[in-house]
Amino acid sequence: MTILSASVLAADFAHLEDQTRAALEAGAEWIHIDVMDGHFVPNITMGSIVVKALKPLAEEVGAVLDVHLMIENPDDYLEGFVSAGADIVSVHVETCPHLHRTIHQIKSLGARAGVTLNPATPLASLEDILPHTDLVMIMSVNPGFAGQSFIPGSINRVRRLRDMLDAVGSNAWLEIDGGVDAVNAGEIAAAGANVLVSGSAIFRGDIAANVDALRRAVTVAA
Ligand code: DX5
Ligand code: ZN
Repeated sequence: MTILSASVLAADFAHLEDQTRAALEAGAEWIHIDVMDGHFVPNITMGSIVVKALKPLAEEVGAVLDVHLMIENPDDYLEGFVSAGADIVSVHVETCPHLHRTIHQIKSLGARAGVTLNPATPLASLEDILPHTDLVMIMSVNPGFAGQSFIPGSINRVRRLRDMLDAVGSNAWLEIDGGVDAVNAGEIAAAGANVLVSGSAIFRGDIAANVDALRRAVTVAA
């Protein structure tokens, strides 16, 4: 079963709850929240107050709040995001010199812990943390903005990461983030990703029809 995580970065913020609800009602299971600080990535987006604002909706419909931290010094903010209602908190290896400590801190706060890689960061940097993480995420764009094009080599990275997870018997989620649409979703799922983040391909245009097209693409691939 492939999970669709709707990236609200691409939503109309004046109608955030309505648009998020529409994506969930159409069949997206997770809400993906992109937190950017203007330092690690060249954009500033949202913080824990948005997680808190969407928590009642997530609880009402049983959706998972999937928080993606693209910020320097994430350790300083973990408690704030978990107490705001984050179910999963993912950090970038590039921002975490003490990644093992960070992962265990997220878990001890009561959330699931994820680890994310930029497109140019070797998969080998995940090797020793794999047994500790609940989720691994491949960035298929350089993080910073919604609406960028999928980097084609990312499919091969998904395949290799799936092999790494299988080799250690890990059942961590394998999530992919950036430029996912109904055209490439089937191939991405077939390569071994089981959580697909999608922003523009969900929120631009007819949300229900878009989620439906993504769902059909991954179902055909399965
Ligand atoms: C990129 C973000 C992604 C992105 C997804 O930095 O982490 O979550 O907004 O949006 P699309 O699907 O439009 O690439
Ligand atoms: Zn993201």
